[in-house]
Amino acid sequence: DDPAADPFQIAAHAAEQLAAATGVAVHDIALTLGSGWAKAADLLGETVATIPATEIAGFSAPALTGHVGNLRSIRLADGRHALVIGARTHFYEGHGVRRVVHSVRTAAAAGAKTMVLTNGAGGIKDHWTPGTPVLISDHLNLTAASPLEGATFIDLTDLYSARLRAVAREVDPTLDDGVYVQFRGPHYETPAEVQYAKTIGGHIVGMSTALEAIAARQAGMEVLGFSLITNLAAGISPDPLSHAEVLQAGKDAEPVISDLLARVVAKL
Ligand code: 6GU
Repeated sequence: DDPAADPFQIAAHAAEQLAAATGVAVHDIALTLGSGWAKAADLLGETVATIPATEIAGFSAPALTGHVGNLRSIRLADGRHALVIGARTHFYEGHGVRRVVHSVRTAAAAGAKTMVLTNGAGGIKDHWTPGTPVLISDHLNLTAASPLEGATFIDLTDLYSARLRAVAREVDPTLDDGVYVQFRGPHYETPAEVQYAKTIGGHIVGMSTALEAIAARQAGMEVLGFSLITNLAAGISPDPLSHAEVLQAGKDAEPVISDLLARVVAKL
């Protein structure tokens, strides 16, 4: 059951287990809920089943607090089914990229055509305040890794779908956007690294999402990405960063951004 062995076969197996456990043959849309976004699951629709991620092939228990270890099947008001992934494996955990993108490949195998990726992240634009949700318009992958192996030359133009971003802006026209920079972590960046990210065109710094987005595109899914700015990145704000404050900012923003996300998903 290790996705590091045969990633697509294990993802297909995981999708079969999910269908059996939820009674839902096809999940139309999938969402990975990062720091601050978890409450959205309660607003999307009627929960059909909640399954501990560890019961599904290839998933492992969450590495840290603030991350939920469940997979949840939800029936939306219009009858579509959403798969909510509350169990993210981060690249910094060191288990390899195949494990990092296993949930995305499982969602694709479960039938999802749309992948919504959310995270809590640091802001580089200095007018962003903690608690601001922003759309991801593109990314810079600074992990030096890729979920693709061998000669898989996949186009990443419009990776973060302009069409889906426009749908999100129908719900909230004030949504700003930015280029997400995935660092390996788990340390936060130095001020010099943040300046580097800014110089090369980045606006948001985090430790997830980019690798998952690439895997989603490989699987043919349309991707929508949201970051919750939990803090300004190192050196942008004079204050030092603390994981506890990042989690607290996520908690404080949760009601507002969860409502936003649920209203966006209803229109996707
Ligand atoms: Cl400043 N950096 C990274 N890499 N991840 C974060 C963050 C910063 N703030 C929240 N998550």
